[in-house]
Amino acid sequence: MRFFIDTASLDQIKEAKDLGILDGVTTNPSLMAKEGISGEANVANHYQAICEIVDGDVSAEVISTDFESIIEEGQKLAALAPNIVVKVPMIRDGVKALARFAEMGIRTNCTLIFSAGQGLLAAKAGATYVSPFVGRIDDINWNGMDLISDLAEIYAVQGFETEILAASIRSALHIVEAAKAGADIVTCPLKPILGLLKHPLTDIGLEKFLADHRNVAGG
Ligand code: G3P
Repeated sequence: MRFFIDTASLDQIKEAKDLGILDGVTTNPSLMAKEGISGEANVANHYQAICEIVDGDVSAEVISTDFESIIEEGQKLAALAPNIVVKVPMIRDGVKALARFAEMGIRTNCTLIFSAGQGLLAAKAGATYVSPFVGRIDDINWNGMDLISDLAEIYAVQGFETEILAASIRSALHIVEAAKAGADIVTCPLKPILGLLKHPLTDIGLEKFLADHRNVAGG
């Protein structure tokens, strides 16, 4: 399974890269706004800065919602760097754009996926990735992880090449569950990734190893 970081923060991206496990980046308009990035030129510059740090895929989301504008905006984003993937919302014109981008050889990530039907349609339209939002489904007391399993089953049975990019991942446990459910990639902030390395018995065990070593060395 690949690990993407879900942020527009250059510092967090660098920190994840430094950990040696970073395969890519996803962003969205809310994450760009959180970094105070706005305006077409600033947004373009910021994506280029991200692509200079990361070799893997970087999802750049369109803010257009009609077909022609999605295509125009997506082409501009895709031209910024070879590793840009155009992120398109699961709306009627978005699905149409996914199919057109596929014909054009532009890779896509269909976002705001909340049902197996939406994921099926995005794959049929030729999306490179789909982003099912696990945490936001959990937020309404449904089981977000069931959607990952359903999509993994559907894509395997039907032979779709679309990859499942589990998004809205909020915890280390979510990452582990997404791996078991068949996600190809997880995307999340740095904190859940760092949460994976924590276990109290590891800390206690290491403390004892080092204390035993010190005792012999000192004695
Ligand atoms: O990748 C989608 C993600 O950014 C949404 O996460 O935590 O806002 O639901 P969240």
